[in-house]
Amino acid sequence: MGAWDPVWDDIFAARQWGKYPKEELIRFVARNYYAAPDRQAVRFLDLGCGFGAATWFLAREGFSVEGIDGSELIIARLRERLAAEGLTAGLVAGDAIDLPYPPAHFDCMIDLACLQHNSPDDTRRILDGVFDRLKPGGRLFSFTAAAGSWGDGLGAQVGPCTFTGITEGPFANAGLARFSDEAQIRDLYGRFELQLDLSELTVAGRAHRLSNWIVEGRKP
Ligand SMILES: C[S@@+](CC[C@H](N)C(=O)[O-])C[C@H]1O[C@@H](n2cnc3c(N)ncnc32)[C@H](O)[C@@H]1O
Repeated sequence: MGAWDPVWDDIFAARQWGKYPKEELIRFVARNYYAAPDRQAVRFLDLGCGFGAATWFLAREGFSVEGIDGSELIIARLRERLAAEGLTAGLVAGDAIDLPYPPAHFDCMIDLACLQHNSPDDTRRILDGVFDRLKPGGRLFSFTAAAGSWGDGLGAQVGPCTFTGITEGPFANAGLARFSDEAQIRDLYGRFELQLDLSELTVAGRAHRLSNWIVEGRKP
């Protein structure tokens, strides 16, 4: 069975989501890849690319990028977006649980808020696929919801750290959301050498806290 939730088509039909990348991603890419002698030779995969926040940025910076997302609607919009700016990326409408790429193909995998919308079991399967498609020494960058972030504990619990039917905040009406604690992150991403950081932000006059893991991983 697939892992992608069609609720994303409803979300993308109703509003714009994710035009520009997180500053944390820009720092990660700058630190690790800006000095590459031939940027076209560096291959990225943007997992759950949506409207292309990361795909657009990486293509503009001259890297080779593939993007995959379960929503055909958003892939079509991203195609138009890139074409309008004369940028290129390989785009696929498909489920990240079944990655259509050869083994050891990518230098780096980016997850901006995609994996957090998958159950722990599905996330583990997706990350097994990512591990396989990365070259030895390849990296992953994952920006993913952390325990205690706004929405955690609301709605119905459907698994460890995992909820649906969240009624307020950034995860309202966005299907399943996983708010991982550190133990779960270390378990799910355990095949990679890990560096973990947290991005913490308050919103609405400090009424709510947004907390995200910044997972940097390396395939040994
Ligand atoms: C919160 S949005 C983030 C989109 C984009 N990465 C960004 O930063 O704006 C989550 C995206 O992940 C996609 N997604 C979630 N699970 C997926 C899966 N198993 N396979 C493919 N796409 C998935 C959704 O369709 C949606 O576009």
